[in-house]
Amino acid sequence: MAVVSVRRSLLAWLGAVVLPIAGCDSGSGVTAPGAEPRQAASTVRAAGFDAGPVRTPAEYLNEPELAAADVARGELLGLACAACHKFRADEGTLVGPNLHGVFGRRAGAVEGFAYSPALAQSGLVWTPRSVEAWLENPAGFVEGTTMAFTGYRSAADRRDLIAFLLRATQ
Ligand code: HEC
Repeated sequence: MAVVSVRRSLLAWLGAVVLPIAGCDSGSGVTAPGAEPRQAASTVRAAGFDAGPVRTPAEYLNEPELAAADVARGELLGLACAACHKFRADEGTLVGPNLHGVFGRRAGAVEGFAYSPALAQSGLVWTPRSVEAWLENPAGFVEGTTMAFTGYRSAADRRDLIAFLLRATQ
């Protein structure tokens, strides 16, 4: 029963959110004139980006969109990140900086990690909103970043992953 209801709500959510977004993407994929910048991954830039309010992970997780996320699915999506990042404070650094406490922190703030100048000087604060834009297209959002990850194009993937990260990096 539980599985059925999860499937049902996921389908409802897909219908309400992902399909309209997918529709926009197919339009911006051919760089339609007049496409809104927010819908075209490559045109969202870190410079001047409004990351929204800084809150605690628990507060973010209470927001309706993140409260509805599939955290188990987010954990699977996070395996791609775990190749390069540790999430817990005492786990040290891999190819990428340790992500413990990343929400609410300025970009490029892990002591001793050799960030790209692009990320270090981006002026970003990491919130679900800025992480969202970053994960959609890291190199488009912060041109010159050394994070070799091409991005998650699906809004549902990013939402589920962020809900997982909010828990895993606390
Ligand atoms: C191939 C290795 C690699 C993968 C895979 C990877 N990252 Fe990164 N990540 C990096 C590197 C390297 C940086 C530093 C980038 C820079 O300095 O420009 C970084 C930086 C970051 C930052 C900024 C941290 C800070 O302290 O400012 C966040 C957030 C982040 N990654 C999240 C993720 C997430 C979430 C995933 C999975 C979807 C992911 N990364 C996948 C290597 C990786």
